Amino acid sequence: MTVEGIRVSRRWLALREPADAAARAPDLVEHLRAPPEEKGPRVIHDLGGGTGAMGRWLARLLPGPQHWVVHDRDADLLEIAETNSPGPAADGAPVTVEARQSDITRLQPGELTGADLITASALLDLLTEDELARLITVCVDARCPVLLTLSIVDGVQLMPADPLDRRVAAAFDAHQRRTTERGRLLGPAAVTVALEQLGRLATKVRPSPWRLGALQADLAAEWFTGWVGAACEQQPELAAETYDYTLRRLAEATAGQLAVTVDHADLLILP
Ligand SMILES: C[S@@+](CC[C@H](N)C(=O)[O-])C[C@H]1O[C@@H](n2cnc3c(N)ncnc32)[C@H](O)[C@@H]1O
Repeated sequence: MTVEGIRVSRRWLALREPADAAARAPDLVEHLRAPPEEKGPRVIHDLGGGTGAMGRWLARLLPGPQHWVVHDRDADLLEIAETNSPGPAADGAPVTVEARQSDITRLQPGELTGADLITASALLDLLTEDELARLITVCVDARCPVLLTLSIVDGVQLMPADPLDRRVAAAFDAHQRRTTERGRLLGPAAVTVALEQLGRLATKVRPSPWRLGALQADLAAEWFTGWVGAACEQQPELAAETYDYTLRRLAEATAGQLAVTVDHADLLILP
């Protein structure tokens, strides 16, 4: 799911959409409710927006007409963002969506000028420190609120616990922070690094963990498969050791007997 060069599947995004919606910190939205003073729709840029899940969550929480520009490099995901558009707004006002295929690490300063709000979800941990710095410069340049939700932070808990959990978690974190052709990925360090880069700008951070149980059994199983798979890619010697563990955990997940907490954080930057 987070592997560089591998496309994020529609199935994965569809599976996680309800859990993402339940996890995002609702109180940060309070800071975004006031519509812009100028007439016309509120222009919202969603970076790495995939199938447009952020808009389907947020548009109905904000009053007034909105125009969402969903940026992603994957044309197939953008097609869903356009056809499965959000709305209406909290007060029934219309919401429109425009898909923009682009590499968000190559946005130029000034490219988001005129935005009333910038959002991203499940994106920051996929970036390198330089890419994040450039993205933050472009966002701050737009002088509007920036809501960056669901960045992975250090912390996964599985219940019932298993002695292998910690080793797999450590290998997974190392995988998230691996060095790629683009540089070292930020993984669970993304929010801390973003806060350092933002310096004295006004920010608010909230926890936004996934809490998966019997009702999210499919997502828990899919997440676990990706989690242990990434850990074994990072430390191939884990593959043999985790064989029985994986079968056991997947059986637990399918039976609704596995509870998983995956820690994330939401970050709001105020202009
Ligand atoms: C984990 S998915 C999250 C998608 C969506 N924000 C959501 O919450 O459902 C990450 C998304 O970022 C996109 N992405 C990653 N790196 C990108 C880049 N450099 N430029 C544009 N899109 C990118 C991927 O194609 C994918 O749709």
